[in-house]
Amino acid sequence: MRITIVGCGYVGSALASHWHQQGRHWLRVTTTRDERLAELAPLADAVQRLEASDPDQLRQALETSEAAVFCLAPGGNRQVDAAGYEATYLRTMEAVAAVVSQLPELRQLVYTSSCSVYGEATGLVEEDTPLQPREPHARILRDAEDLLLTCRSPQRRVAIARLGAIYGPGRELEPRFRSLAGSRREGDGSSLISWIHRDDVVAGLTWAVEQGFDGLINLVDDEPISVRELIDRSCRAAGLEPVIWDGDNGTTTSPAAEKRISNRRLRELGLSLLHPRLAILATTPGTGPEPQPAT
Ligand SMILES: NC(=O)c1ccc[n+]([C@@H]2O[C@H](COP(=O)([O-])OP(=O)(O)OC[C@H]3O[C@@H](n4cnc5c(N)ncnc54)[C@H](OP(=O)(O)O)[C@@H]3O)[C@@H](O)[C@H]2O)c1
Repeated sequence: MRITIVGCGYVGSALASHWHQQGRHWLRVTTTRDERLAELAPLADAVQRLEASDPDQLRQALETSEAAVFCLAPGGNRQVDAAGYEATYLRTMEAVAAVVSQLPELRQLVYTSSCSVYGEATGLVEEDTPLQPREPHARILRDAEDLLLTCRSPQRRVAIARLGAIYGPGRELEPRFRSLAGSRREGDGSSLISWIHRDDVVAGLTWAVEQGFDGLINLVDDEPISVRELIDRSCRAAGLEPVIWDGDNGTTTSPAAEKRISNRRLRELGLSLLHPRLAILATTPGTGPEPQPAT
């Protein structure tokens, strides 16, 4: 199959590397930066400089492809404001919608969205749970999904993978949370976060493209974890002080603590996860070294 990966950062590079090693597909990858062209060259058959919100550039990048995988995101690990999100996600999906009719060979569009689109939804959250995005960023991601869905037709499938928070090689969790040791934080930390390992994102996207999937799928692991437990376990495992939660009255439970993103569809479709739960959940609380006094 001929495939273009638009946006070759953490996930896009891992996906390109996986497909390139397999050698089963003809692959084009893209970057907005000249200085990355050489770095990406070993991962694909072609590398193209592309600003995805530019319809002409986008048409060229997708011209001979049968599938396009959109893995673009603004700013890498930096926090980006809503305008940055709009410029990346909305303008790109508008460009896609503007050019698809000129791309008869393009049979599938795959997009890595986020579980943040569910927003205020509570309880068990499935793919058909009504979206209630709370933050401007999440509303933009919802709007980007809606725009992409307008591209669906009898000849063109649209697959949207709603990802949990991604971790993996180079984006390990524990160092991020250990830096919070001993600090005071707002709230009670009871909100659940769903995670997904980078390699399971790669496996899920590979499956979606190779099966010609058309629809929505949550890509999250089996076991969401509260922010509090995650930070506590990370700090305890490193022998560090726990975090103090300002809103901890020991009695109330926030709706976010009851919200679980379901991966039932993923399981029903026969996908198995390489990392069904965070490794840190395999350690028993309290078995790490004793906390050291703060210096
Ligand atoms: N990270 C998470 O926890 C998380 C959670 C849920 C969903 N997601 C979604 O997962 C996907 C992959 O995330 P990631 O962590 O791999 O992102 P990443 O490492 O930040 O990579 C994204 C890439 O997008 C490219 N890009 C940015 N703006 C672009 C534009 N206007 N046109 C074309 N390319 C552009 C950049 O490529 P160059 O710098 O080479 O130009 C960048 O390397 C994204 O769609 C993201 O929204 C991520």
